[in-house]
Amino acid sequence: MIIEFAAAAAPRPRLVVSLIAQDAFPDALPSGADLLVREAAAAARFTGKPGQLFEVFAAESDVVSRLAYVGIGEPGATGRMASLERAGGALTAKYLASGESALAIDFAGSALSAEEATAVLLAARLRAWRHDVYRTKLPEEQKVSLAKIVVMAAPEGTEVLWATESALAEGIEFTRELVTEPANVIYPESFVERCKARLEGTGIEIVVLDKAQMSELGMGALLGVSQGSVREPRILAMRWKGKAGAQPTAFVGKGVTFDTGGISIKPAAGMEDMKWDMGGAAAVAGTMLALARRKAHADVIGVCGLVENMPDGAAQRPGDVVTSMSGQTIEVINTDAEGRLVLCDALTWVQKHYSPATIVDLATLTGAIIVSLGHEHAGMFTNDDLLAGQLDAAGKASGDALWRFPLGAAYDKLIDSPIADMKNVGPRYGGSITAAQFIQRFIDKGVAWAHLDIAGTVWVDKAGATHDKGATGFGVRLLDRYVRDVLEA
Ligand code: BES
Ligand code: MN
Ligand code: ZN
Repeated sequence: MIIEFAAAAAPRPRLVVSLIAQDAFPDALPSGADLLVREAAAAARFTGKPGQLFEVFAAESDVVSRLAYVGIGEPGATGRMASLERAGGALTAKYLASGESALAIDFAGSALSAEEATAVLLAARLRAWRHDVYRTKLPEEQKVSLAKIVVMAAPEGTEVLWATESALAEGIEFTRELVTEPANVIYPESFVERCKARLEGTGIEIVVLDKAQMSELGMGALLGVSQGSVREPRILAMRWKGKAGAQPTAFVGKGVTFDTGGISIKPAAGMEDMKWDMGGAAAVAGTMLALARRKAHADVIGVCGLVENMPDGAAQRPGDVVTSMSGQTIEVINTDAEGRLVLCDALTWVQKHYSPATIVDLATLTGAIIVSLGHEHAGMFTNDDLLAGQLDAAGKASGDALWRFPLGAAYDKLIDSPIADMKNVGPRYGGSITAAQFIQRFIDKGVAWAHLDIAGTVWVDKAGATHDKGATGFGVRLLDRYVRDVLEA
């Protein structure tokens, strides 16, 4: 989607949208259409509620225009940004495949600030994202037609803010693309290749570890997961050094490009969802793209632990004991609890090589987090109250909401093993917490760490304000907001 800031005299497309505050339909409307529009608004029971939309066609001599009005709610109301996003998203949801190729948003009279106008534009762009590359038989009338949004009478400063927000949009779209691609297309090596291609020229430094290097480093936990697959594992590290000096921050993502469960195999129904078990890694990659594109003043390392979890003759068995890079041994009770086995070695490696002061890991780690929180919040587990507050604030500001869960010794002992240092699963209850306890055993003293269980928020079956059904891009806005408000502050 192209977003173009129009000069005042530029020709306007046929479709022009005005933003209307709650119960505040303006007195002065485009000449000639006043009566028609006012009647149409009343007839459509249009009041300016956030995201409410109606349109009329109007003719002036021989020029026909399509006038759309979208509600933005009450100025100063709580949840203002969310209301503006509903407005922006509603526009592209409606007109994406409408046949119109361009849409103008006229901010004249909207009384929005540059920040608010930018929120409308971001939502409009994000809601327009689709992945149609495998649809060869889409009927003409269902194809995307809308290619451009023309911004008219933008509040002063909007264009400057948009330069930053469009970088964020690019990152989110890249994350969605990686998440949406099927597992025969995106596997560890191709994940790396796609990231390399996308990050080329951004200034991001890339390091890739192959299987031999990982063996050399002793990543027995990650390699154990990967050994049942013909796809080779990878570690992908992306560093954006937008600031010198201080210790870096690390974002680490679970990148299981397909999770069959391994020998502890999953039921067939719904297993196709496990193509998005790399949503954490995809969020990390998208965040790195956004940070580089907007030249963030921060030193951030993104690490993706990439494997495919398959059952075959070479696969690991329940009961196998593996030695992680940290030296700690793990009894693999359930080969379907593989995400933590991948993360633990990725975390040890990033701490050894980059000594980050802060680590945030993101993982589609447990079905139990979906039982707890549904699709509205991701679970947050952290050893640091300050970081908890910062991430919580970033979650609220970005819309990628988090809810904090407890950690503690009583949960930790549930993963003690009779044969090894720990086992990879605890008892049935509290499964998201014991998973987090497992990861915490690999965090060095003094490191501020948060684990985000995003299993419920990476993929949804209902459209939201800024996304269609499918991949949400969850995590990118959250991490970008954290970088802006904490690392760049
Ligand atoms: N990738 C899954 C978790 C998951 C489930 C993500 C549903 C998204 C939707 C993870 O690897 C897994 O299989 N976890 C097990 C852990 C159990 C064996 C302790 C689970 O949640 O059932
Ligand atoms: Mn699994
Ligand atoms: Zn998994």
